[in-house]
Amino acid sequence: MLIAERVSNIKHPHGINQRCQNPRSALLPAIRSPSNGGTPSKIKLANFTDSILNYNLPPWRSSIARALHRNRSLPNARYIQLATIDNNHRPQNRTLVFRGWLEPESKIKFVTDIRSSKAINLLADASPWAEACWYFPKTREQFRLGGTLELVTSACGNTSHSQARQAAWEQMSDSGRVQFDWGTPGADRSEDPQAFNPPQPDEHQPSANFCLLLLDVRSVTHLELRGEAQNCYLYGLVDGEWVIRSINP
Ligand SMILES: Cc1cc2nc3c(=O)[nH]c(=O)nc-3n(C[C@H](O)[C@H](O)[C@H](O)COP(=O)(O)O)c2cc1C
Repeated sequence: MLIAERVSNIKHPHGINQRCQNPRSALLPAIRSPSNGGTPSKIKLANFTDSILNYNLPPWRSSIARALHRNRSLPNARYIQLATIDNNHRPQNRTLVFRGWLEPESKIKFVTDIRSSKAINLLADASPWAEACWYFPKTREQFRLGGTLELVTSACGNTSHSQARQAAWEQMSDSGRVQFDWGTPGADRSEDPQAFNPPQPDEHQPSANFCLLLLDVRSVTHLELRGEAQNCYLYGLVDGEWVIRSINP
């Protein structure tokens, strides 16, 4: 409550309400196009909001949507560094591709191999806490998203998560899908060339090694390098509600 009161006068960096009760207003900054002088495009507004208008989006979602839009010409703007803690309490960090959001919870979707170190550690009850670090080169801004990870395997009993895993598989390219049947990641390099040339998997039948990895975001730090001086915003959950603080960079 103390924090919520303290932040009550802080305006959202892109002009939206910090409590973000109105999803349409939250999305407006994300669909403003620099090429039309910042006027929201009605066509894009319709497309973008139709599927998610009913969700009460956390306020940081519009900042990330805006960054994704402004950096859309850069494929590497969809690469995220994901840091985890292994079973020996040591950090592990690696690059993953952002695969979109699991709605309505705004969980970040990744895909990974059940035989990878991160998956093995999660299945062996390593800490689920993780931090994603996402840099957008064109707009020179960084988001650090802290939260907990869930691994969605072929054995998942949650129907919506299983459906999301299936959809993620179907959205992969053929070359992406086949990698889940390559030789075991982390093992000594296979001499057998067949280890990297398995039959092409069925586009509707996910490989048993294929997992969806979900990051349930609990805190976000947004650093904008542009500006005099730089801006930094900290989003956190207080009593289940997102609050935002402007902090020193
Ligand atoms: C640009 C780039 C994108 C990558 N995307 C993914 C990905 O989407 N999923 C994945 O599991 N690994 C991806 N990798 C490989 C991971 O960085 C990492 O090497 C692999 O997941 C094994 O990590 P682990 O042993 O820590 O589990 C990517 C690597 C690079 C360089």
